[in-house]
Amino acid sequence: MQRYALFTFLLVISLSSAMPACKHDPALPGGIDPDPTDTTDTSTGDNTGVPCSPDSVYFENQVLPILVSYCTESGCHNEADRREGVVLTSYQNLMATVKNVTSNNWDKNELMAVLLEDDPDKRMPYQKPALSQAQINLIATWLEQGAKNNGCNENYGACDTVNVRYSAFVRPLIQAKCQGCHSGNSPQGGINLTNYSNVKTLASNGKLYAAVTRSVNWMPSGGPKLDPCTLSKLKAWLDAGAPEN
Ligand code: HEC
Repeated sequence: MQRYALFTFLLVISLSSAMPACKHDPALPGGIDPDPTDTTDTSTGDNTGVPCSPDSVYFENQVLPILVSYCTESGCHNEADRREGVVLTSYQNLMATVKNVTSNNWDKNELMAVLLEDDPDKRMPYQKPALSQAQINLIATWLEQGAKNNGCNENYGACDTVNVRYSAFVRPLIQAKCQGCHSGNSPQGGINLTNYSNVKTLASNGKLYAAVTRSVNWMPSGGPKLDPCTLSKLKAWLDAGAPEN
């Protein structure tokens, strides 16, 4: 594109210097060049991978974000700290470090056993409220469906950035991917994302978007970067003034 623009530029210069000035100079073909650094098409989704089926629970999309968010913070089950030898940052690590993780007997399956533990001192997440019933059900269903290393494309087809709502999109996103670390009495980074007013403050001062788009140590910390469609939807909501809608 740049070579083409340069060529056109030189062509126009040479033509205009060779010809007398003319009232009707020809317009540059193609009009304004798009920014060559902007290669993401934020208006559409993509058709890679498989579309999400409501009948399946997907490890990459639904289970791993819970593990990363509630279990891998500093001192816990990340690759550096390996508390009790358990690492929950990927499918491979989960399979390799948690006892009987594919068992459908919840007393034997160490993952389910610690999530369902009644004694708050032994239950996981450590020194935090238990996972919600919905989160536990997701993990249990994923195990019952064979504990597969599966994932789906949440934006298969189109990426709809119109009328992105806090209640339907932003809050569930934060609950799924951020809240495990950013809640409780000592939230990570001193940032609590469990209520709208805190989210709104970080939306307005630019820290929220900066944190999920920075090129190193992005949020969610320890997890994969949010996909382009999710980022476009978040941006659309931020550009609309981050309303509590
Ligand atoms: C595994 C734990 C973990 C998860 C999950 C996580 N964070 Fe964080 N977050 C941290 C830690 C630790 C810090 C402080 C250190 C840093 O900024 O990297 C932090 C800092 C931040 C900051 C402040 C950055 C700044 O510039 O001061 C923001 C904003 C933030 N997180 C947003 C999010 C959002 C949004 C998500 C979900 C998409 C998320 N976090 C998920 C651990 C986490």
